[in-house]
Amino acid sequence: MDYFELVDKAYKEHNLAKGEVMRLLEPKGVEEEAYLFKKADQLRHECVGDCVHLRGLIEFSSHCRRNCKYCGLRRDNVSLERYRLSPEDIVKIAHNAALLGYKTIVLQSGEDEFYTADVMAYIIKEIKKIADVAITLCIGERSYEEYKIMKEAGADRYLLKFETANPGHYREMHPDMSYKDRIDCLMALKDLGYEVGSGDIVGLPGQTVEHLAEDIMLLKELDVEMAGIGPFIPHHSTPFRDEARGTLEMTLRMVAITRLMLPYANIPATTAVGTIHPQGRQKALMAGANVVMPNVMPPEYRPRYEIYPSKICIGEKPSHCRLCIEGIIRSLGREVGQDYGSYRGR
Ligand code: 5AD
Ligand code: SF4
Ligand code: FES
Repeated sequence: MDYFELVDKAYKEHNLAKGEVMRLLEPKGVEEEAYLFKKADQLRHECVGDCVHLRGLIEFSSHCRRNCKYCGLRRDNVSLERYRLSPEDIVKIAHNAALLGYKTIVLQSGEDEFYTADVMAYIIKEIKKIADVAITLCIGERSYEEYKIMKEAGADRYLLKFETANPGHYREMHPDMSYKDRIDCLMALKDLGYEVGSGDIVGLPGQTVEHLAEDIMLLKELDVEMAGIGPFIPHHSTPFRDEARGTLEMTLRMVAITRLMLPYANIPATTAVGTIHPQGRQKALMAGANVVMPNVMPPEYRPRYEIYPSKICIGEKPSHCRLCIEGIIRSLGREVGQDYGSYRGR
């Protein structure tokens, strides 16, 4: 089977073996790659349509108890000035985002135990009282009981990237964490009825093409409702400061193959891919992605949530990003989704 036939097989069956995914990750030439993107874009159109769903991102705390080697929020980074928003401020920012037309709010933070499940439950309930939005949590590893409290409070979705599906590589990236815990958390979230998002980072130090194929196989096995794939960007205050960033090309191939394997998944054009290339988000939206997650934080906090440097939108106001992203979406002949943009594959 040549490259084109393999793309056709993925487009029809959504069920490649790991070795086949590896072959798709290493195209022979520009025509092969263009064909991969074209078929992913076609399947995106057929399965999830032309609406691009916006998720308003609230980065409510930059405190983190973890020490992921790649991340600027890691606890050993003492040069970062940390902040924590009060529940009242979080609710206010969510309300503003709803007024700007967001139908999903993502509450994201480092792993910050200040926000207990009960505090999160309070925030979720307050937001739902005043805004007609779906709520996605992205706050890391918690117990089954805590996930349950937050689900019962009204949380709809949960993002927890596995970051790398290879257990050995996972250990190298997260010396004090356990791969098994990560998978257990994802299973707990599924069990509780969350729409679950996971994903990886493309171009992490020590990563191979086989690892990337394993990432896609795990996304498929978990049957995730959302798949987040972004390039690694080195941060000056981490052990990976001198490592190379992930490439646009490999990130786009990962997005495209993930679309072919998970036709109905919600796949964001990540802020990270927009950071490594001025047209990065546009290109991802043309290679299988159907979601964008604009920042809705007031500009004064943005520089302090420095997961990686040179993040786009760092000085912009929420209203500016909202208009900017609508312009981008329309320029691609697509439309802004007006509903919650929930998973429709089952
Ligand atoms: N480059 C790219 N993405 C990163 N993340 C953390 N650090 C980096 C980095 N240096 C991603 C992780 C995490 C998400 C919030 O940010 O995948 O899940
Ligand atoms: Fe903390 Fe998440 Fe960064 Fe890891 S990736 S250090 S858990 S914020
Ligand atoms: Fe923030 Fe374009 S989305 S400036």
